[in-house]
Amino acid sequence: MSKPLTIADLKALARRRVPKMFFDYADSGAWTESTYRANEADFAGIKLRQRVLVDMTDRSLKSEMIGQKVAMPVALAPTGLTGMQHADGEMLAAKAAEEFGVPFTLSTMSICSIEDVASVTTKPFWFQLYVMKDRAFIESLIERAKKAGCSALVVTADLQILGQRHKDLRNGLSAPPKFTPKHIWQMATRPQWCLGMARTKRHGFGNIVGHATNVSDLSSLSAWTAEQFDPRLSWSDVAWIKERWKGKLIIKGILDEEDARAAADTGADALIVSNHGGRQLDGAPSSISMLPKIVEAVGDRIEVHLDGGIRSGQDVLKAVALGAKGTYIGRPFLYGLGAMGKEGVELALNIIAKEMDITMALCGKRDIRTVDRSVIAHCPY
Ligand code: FNR
Repeated sequence: MSKPLTIADLKALARRRVPKMFFDYADSGAWTESTYRANEADFAGIKLRQRVLVDMTDRSLKSEMIGQKVAMPVALAPTGLTGMQHADGEMLAAKAAEEFGVPFTLSTMSICSIEDVASVTTKPFWFQLYVMKDRAFIESLIERAKKAGCSALVVTADLQILGQRHKDLRNGLSAPPKFTPKHIWQMATRPQWCLGMARTKRHGFGNIVGHATNVSDLSSLSAWTAEQFDPRLSWSDVAWIKERWKGKLIIKGILDEEDARAAADTGADALIVSNHGGRQLDGAPSSISMLPKIVEAVGDRIEVHLDGGIRSGQDVLKAVALGAKGTYIGRPFLYGLGAMGKEGVELALNIIAKEMDITMALCGKRDIRTVDRSVIAHCPY
């Protein structure tokens, strides 16, 4: 294949280079995957206003998310098991994001640990927190994130219970990978991936080592999640976290106006309109279709961000036009990572930046910070 030009090209390449069980882990949603599909498809219904004969020199994508300067309003979303898409995946993606000038968010369920990522970066990254029943462990994670200099804590609110993803169950997903004949075959046909994995020592869940034992395969991980993750998590726990963290706080997984009001009431710095990339409640609406209502409800009280279904710079521009101050990409950077390692993450970011820049210019705007609803010709939401 010639050099990938689009996120879809990176996805096709990742499919060839990453063992099926891990590619499918990234490329899957819950149950029938209807929300996963809607996240992507619903961007297409939004039409942009074409403007002509407007001076389009000196364009800028620079913006701010929670008061931090960003090269464009796109952060890397927290994704679990990223180090299984490519050896040392979280460290490579964090470096790519840092060099590009956008935030990297490390998942609680990452392969590389908070300390691993801190050891290869020079600027602060963000840490995503899953809240578990063992509050002493949560406090220790918060302390580790503080010590590593993380500049924002992203609290995920939409995974008190794990959504069921059929592909993962059928594939027998595990980290480190299992060695059944099926899995050995999947790995043997991906020699580059195997070489990387043979060279690194990082194969398990870096942040929960020592706390969680015996959570390598998916059934034990689901059982561990059910046992550890706190199904009673409530808004008062956010106050508990805020008290301990004290820094910038983002609440991830808001898809409802009432929840958005509750998130704003906590005094958090931002909320992320998100359905976890269609991986939790299948049948929930797409993120982009809920964005305008949530901006309308709380946009004057809390910064509103969005993730889910962004596959191009055009999608980012549409989200910004509808009121998102920032966006996140999950799968697009995972495909880049699986396809070409760090270079692939850089390419994913560059592809999105270029598409956003061209789209912005053709809409008659030169500065992303001035993009608003006036660039929208038609929006069904
Ligand atoms: C995720 N997501 C996620 N979210 C989170 O808060 N903690 C996590 O550990 C994970 N893990 C994870 C793994 C994988 C493989 C994916 C694809 C997603 C959800 C993620 O942060 C984000 O909400 C979605 O990925 C956004 O949708 P797109 O960009 O992938 O369409």
